[in-house]
Amino acid sequence: MSGLHEDRVVWVTGAASGIGRYTAEEIVSEGGKVVATDLGSADFGWAEGNDAITVLHGDVTDPQHNTDAAACAVETYGHLDGAVLNAGVSGRDNLFDGPLDTFDHVMEVNVRGVVLGIRAAAAVMRPTSAITVTASTSGMRGDPGMWAYNTSKAAVINLVRSASMDLAAKGIRINAVCPGPTETGMTTGIKSAPEVYEDLRRRVPLQRWGLASELANAHSFLLSTKASFITGAHLPVDGGISANSGQFMPAAFSL
Ligand SMILES: NC(=O)c1ccc[n+]([C@@H]2O[C@H](COP(=O)([O-])OP(=O)(O)OC[C@H]3O[C@@H](n4cnc5c(N)ncnc54)[C@H](O)[C@@H]3O)[C@@H](O)[C@H]2O)c1
Repeated sequence: MSGLHEDRVVWVTGAASGIGRYTAEEIVSEGGKVVATDLGSADFGWAEGNDAITVLHGDVTDPQHNTDAAACAVETYGHLDGAVLNAGVSGRDNLFDGPLDTFDHVMEVNVRGVVLGIRAAAAVMRPTSAITVTASTSGMRGDPGMWAYNTSKAAVINLVRSASMDLAAKGIRINAVCPGPTETGMTTGIKSAPEVYEDLRRRVPLQRWGLASELANAHSFLLSTKASFITGAHLPVDGGISANSGQFMPAAFSL
């Protein structure tokens, strides 16, 4: 432990699982305190008995839940210095026909939920605070059949750019982290389709899937004072998949 987040209090959404859970654990391992939030059905067994973590259940699309989470940080630990707006869902709708229910839900969680999180956090944060958002490499390019998710994550990347303008005068930085294929709860379904898992692995120049802990490290850095002159940026953490123009398959290797 280097104490990177000593005396800092960070709110993490979607914290029961995957990238959110590992980010919460990383912040605590660096001396910080965490308000960990997720849906009512979420299992926070991993956080039980840890005094540095306060769990709150709720939905990021609910404005009151966002206000409550920010207030919980202040009431429990005295202040709020960081927010990791990470909760997200994937989903597909037929682009050409049928209802747009999935699209509406994906936009509500992945975009509106982040707007509400920024509002709630900024209302109580003091200067030198920082916000990170989990976007995706899917927000930087298109993917077949994933237009709803692609649209939501592209929106979040530009939301981060725009919000950085308005948050600067409050002394608050905001940045996005863009995961490539990462082993989490969201992608367990892909593991049960080995050919899809392997196909994605081959497309990553580093020839492997990412780990939630590697995404947590990026959130931790961008939240910390080590990133004090970085705002409005989006950082791919993707083994190089977004660096490829798409014309050629990366070289296969094993080390
Ligand atoms: N895993 C990947 O390959 C990958 C790639 C790119 C981007 N991402 C993004 O990373 C973020 C974290 O996802 P993950 O991969 O760790 O998956 P995950 O499913 O393990 O974690 C997502 C968490 O968000 C929570 N959540 C969903 N809807 C919510 C809501 N309305 N309110 C509150 N919480 C809600 C879920 O309960 C879950 O615990 C998401 O924004 C996702 O889009 C993941």
